[in-house]
Amino acid sequence: MCGIFGYIGKQEAAPILINGLKALEYRGYDSAGLYVVGAGCVKAVGQVKNLEAKVGDGLRGSVGLAHTRWATHGVPSEVNSHPHSDCEGKIWLAHNGIIENYGELKAELIAKGHKFASATDTEVVAHLIEENLKEGISFSAALLLALKTIRGTYGLVISSVHEPEKLYIARKGSPIVLGIGDGENFVASDPSAIVPHTKRVIYLNDGEWAELTADTYQLYDLEGAPIAREPQVIEWSVEQTKKGGYDHFMMKEIMEGDNVIKNSIRGRLNEETLEVKLPELDVVADKLKDIKRIIITSCGTALYSGMVGEYMIEEIAKVPVEIEYASEFRYRSPIVEPGTMIISITQSGETADTLAAIREAKRQGALVVSIVNTVGSTIARESDAVMFNQIGPEIGVASTKAFMSQVTLFALFTLYLGKLRGTIETEMYTKVVQEIMALPEKIKTILSKEAEIKVVASKYAKFDDFLFMGRKYTFPIAFEGALKLKEISYVHAEGYGAGEMKHGPIAMIDENFPTVALALSDTVYEKMVSNIEEIKARSGKVLAIATEGNSTLASLADDVIYVPETIEMLEALLAVVPLQIFAYYIGTGRGYDVDKPRNLAKSVTVE
Ligand code: F6R
Repeated sequence: MCGIFGYIGKQEAAPILINGLKALEYRGYDSAGLYVVGAGCVKAVGQVKNLEAKVGDGLRGSVGLAHTRWATHGVPSEVNSHPHSDCEGKIWLAHNGIIENYGELKAELIAKGHKFASATDTEVVAHLIEENLKEGISFSAALLLALKTIRGTYGLVISSVHEPEKLYIARKGSPIVLGIGDGENFVASDPSAIVPHTKRVIYLNDGEWAELTADTYQLYDLEGAPIAREPQVIEWSVEQTKKGGYDHFMMKEIMEGDNVIKNSIRGRLNEETLEVKLPELDVVADKLKDIKRIIITSCGTALYSGMVGEYMIEEIAKVPVEIEYASEFRYRSPIVEPGTMIISITQSGETADTLAAIREAKRQGALVVSIVNTVGSTIARESDAVMFNQIGPEIGVASTKAFMSQVTLFALFTLYLGKLRGTIETEMYTKVVQEIMALPEKIKTILSKEAEIKVVASKYAKFDDFLFMGRKYTFPIAFEGALKLKEISYVHAEGYGAGEMKHGPIAMIDENFPTVALALSDTVYEKMVSNIEEIKARSGKVLAIATEGNSTLASLADDVIYVPETIEMLEALLAVVPLQIFAYYIGTGRGYDVDKPRNLAKSVTVE
């Protein structure tokens, strides 16, 4: 996700800001920029080193702010990179998060004569403060008024020529940390960037903002009341901070699971009205009402998320869905009749087979809607409409957080489509929305069992073959669990539908061929128990993934990992998390660098 760094002190700010951005590089980004008070702003697309080269020693001054951007509103470009400013270039700010009401605010500000340079939601904040200052109020009052006007999420650092000796920071939903130095203060979106300078930090809570000088800081709430808070000391070493404290991006990204759900639903699910809105689909809404058939096409993990989507859409929105590997779809003379819609899912937005599949579908006149993580990517540009994941870059080669977001977006899309076509009852709609809102806490519960799952993984690390089996909504998770294991640990693993066991795979089962059985308390639970019995009868070892409160599997399976209860339609999102952690520990246990599995690339841009 985007990164923020700010400095106020007595040293030259620019090199400190550049190093701050470098410390945040592990988060991934597509462009970067910095502003030094009294000297100006420089931006560059691509790596921080491009920005560094452009800045040279040109920006002199001791107060400034900087940003690495991961595009959410507007393509990656210099003009869309942060920092952003008001009409006169007097207020400069960097922002993480999403301003949900930026559209209406922008329209109001344009009507009042403001001129916008970028396509971002962020720029609206600078103009809003500028507008508020026309009331003759102080800068801090104008900022506070702006914070009360904007909806959505923000981590903000702001400077202005009105008060060049100060920086302001604010937080709601996107982290902001203040680092307290000696005659200098630092700001970052992640403490890992502050640790090289000072270990004394103050974490801002949601709804708090602060005024900083080189020597002082003062926190306030949104009523303007001062808040007293002492700094705390971070124990991290500089070395530990490179991946936000984790050994691998893969684990860092698994651990983001709860926030991934929050970010995916942000601006789309109104937690007060319990309504799902997908404004990005407005342009195709008329066509969606009348579609007769959906084909979901993608590759790898993205395809498995589509398999979950297939079940959701048919169950709730009642549209026939087919699912197909993009690599097959593109070559097998598919028939795309009028009224067919294609959904492609892609983290990178550049996967060659997926791109070729949507091009073929478009050639035949289909409507193409895509779920994409990378704004500005080829598939995002070539689709008729795009639901962006809004989860920041995925760096680990094995896809984890993208899968979580893709399935979440399928759940939102299903509700949207079901409502549009009148196939979903209000009671069901509300229930699903409430369960989606409850997911982050439930995922946190699973993530808190990391150590327990590590112990289970160590028991299974010696096996060279695995079977993963699931049914209905956990059917795709059997494939995904097996894929995660094989790609990072090079262990043979097969995903199967539990109902297929008797048709072949059960022949492989013996004491050296363990099964991971997805046996959640759902409508097919009893069938799964029968499958587990059959495996046990053949001396097979069983690791079950079960629902909390289940008292049967503890005595039937060899090991059980419990996940919280949810509705069947969403259970894939909980079942997959322990399998991601399991694969991680089998892979690292065998001594492999799970971030860079052999023979694999993060973005498969060739066939
Ligand atoms: C597996 C994995 C791959 C990708 C696939 C599609 O962990 O990452 O299977 O899911 O290569 O990539 P995108 O989503 O970029 O189209």
